[in-house]
Amino acid sequence: MQDWFDVAKKIESIAASAASAAGLDTTLFKADVRPADPRFGDVQINGALPYAKRQGVNPREIARSLVKALEAEPDLSGIAELSIAGPGFINIRFRPQFFLDWLKTFSDEQAFRASASLLYSQERVVVDYGSPNTAKQMHVGHIRSIVIGEAICRLLEYCGAQVTRDNHIGDWGTPYGKLFYAYKRHLDEDALKADPLGELERLYKLGSQLASEDDAVLEECREELVKLQAEDAEAMALWKNVNELSINGLKEIYDQLGVTFDHYLGESFYRDRVNQVYEELAKTGLAEESKGALVVFHPEHKRYAKQPFIIRKSDGASNYATTDLATMLYRLEHFKATRIIIVTDDRQKDHFEQLDLTTQKWFDRSDRKRPAFNHVMFGKITGDDGKPIKSRSGDPIRLKDLAAEAIERAYAVVKEKNPDLDEDELAKIAQTVGISAIKYADLSPNRTSDYVFSWEKLLSFEGNTAPYLLYAAARIQSIFRKLDPEDARNPASRASVFETEEEVALARKIMEFVGALQTTIETLRPHMLCNYLHELAGAFSGFYSANKVIVEDDGEKARRLILCERTLLALKVGLSLLGIETLERM
Ligand code: ARG
Repeated sequence: MQDWFDVAKKIESIAASAASAAGLDTTLFKADVRPADPRFGDVQINGALPYAKRQGVNPREIARSLVKALEAEPDLSGIAELSIAGPGFINIRFRPQFFLDWLKTFSDEQAFRASASLLYSQERVVVDYGSPNTAKQMHVGHIRSIVIGEAICRLLEYCGAQVTRDNHIGDWGTPYGKLFYAYKRHLDEDALKADPLGELERLYKLGSQLASEDDAVLEECREELVKLQAEDAEAMALWKNVNELSINGLKEIYDQLGVTFDHYLGESFYRDRVNQVYEELAKTGLAEESKGALVVFHPEHKRYAKQPFIIRKSDGASNYATTDLATMLYRLEHFKATRIIIVTDDRQKDHFEQLDLTTQKWFDRSDRKRPAFNHVMFGKITGDDGKPIKSRSGDPIRLKDLAAEAIERAYAVVKEKNPDLDEDELAKIAQTVGISAIKYADLSPNRTSDYVFSWEKLLSFEGNTAPYLLYAAARIQSIFRKLDPEDARNPASRASVFETEEEVALARKIMEFVGALQTTIETLRPHMLCNYLHELAGAFSGFYSANKVIVEDDGEKARRLILCERTLLALKVGLSLLGIETLERM
């Protein structure tokens, strides 16, 4: 037996043969195997109800005859006990021996990975995340895209997909006119060296301000932009320079967050690819002229029948929509993407719905395979007042400052908890705990809701937080550090079967690991994995406080050590998929 999914599949097939033995019409019966409410069992078969309804017979009768037939299947009755609940659900509770055998098979990282990697082995996914506009500092509004996007990449990879990380930076268009105007007149060279993004942002703001005060300046900004769009050599040289500085500045923060992109194919990359979009969308009859602009309507949709998707503005210029259409095509043709995922905040919901509808029709009508598409959107990070959080000066909090503050605060928290750590180690731990805590705070709430940012909460050692999980992992490491080498040697060969309630509950939780990965990926919601890890750590703590690990009896000690080992493994792998590295001690 493999992981949960193989178990479910196997039960599915056993149930089919039991159904036929029980005289049911097997063309109509579907077992519908699912995880059960743990109070009643581990797995349940729900298929008796819909079958009975269809046939107009008593569902409990059907369930009873199915159970009888299932009990005659040694493959199942050997590992589980069966019971009927409610109107006709069949509950299956595995025997403790089954869990022990399972944990013995899932003995290391490879075994977990081998099972998970079957889930998405057919997929080639381009994940578009991060994606800020350049020549600006990243602020707190940017963190969710980075952290959620990276977790999704890691999960997909672990589950077998081939992943391309693409940072679709906003590196073209109107802001450059104003930026260049100010750059040429007000550049502070030293500031640019010391803090490139800070200086570029200052210049852009200055250019905007000057242009808003004086029409002559506005005109000069426009001329700068026209030169850039005509790809004038001098303008292009300046653009390249600014862009390089920007990307280097962004990379400092990505490094700190443990994120490395394969590509930075930003908006500028697609500037020569927009004509094909106009031509094909016009030719396939999708786009039409409206008030001088080229637009796409979706008559079947209640809003987009009237709300146009503008793909060329009335002045003839391309826009965000055009670039994104060209991007979809490039990702299909160049990366052979079977799925495209774009991670942004929820204010872009309409844009991506229209983009998806338009792309589907475009690719269908031009005989292209259409990749699956997901807009992974997320809500705001707010203060207590429900408004987006701001720094004291009223500006958005810069990501750089947020990270620095997290590390500083983590230092204090860890020092208080463990005053004996030496300075070097303390600094390292604070770094990990601080960064992990802000990542986890971003990942653990359902991404589509806003969440209230609170330093106290995210750095707490209690609750669904990074410090709690890191601490749980470190505590297990310390059990192994203190272990007699004799005891550490191959506990699987000496383990006796689980007996206590807490042992079984923990074993069951560990076994749900791959299933948790699957639901997380199916919904593209990392909080599902966070919830799982939190429950796992909870089950461990329940076990550990009730069951002593280092006991006299060798079989008992060995089986408890297996539970410790596998819990640590699932925690380590799970956290690393969220972009969080575990600590030896803290
Ligand atoms: N640069 C955009 C922004 O800051 C996000 C880009 C997301 N990706 C895309 N292909 N549109 O809002």
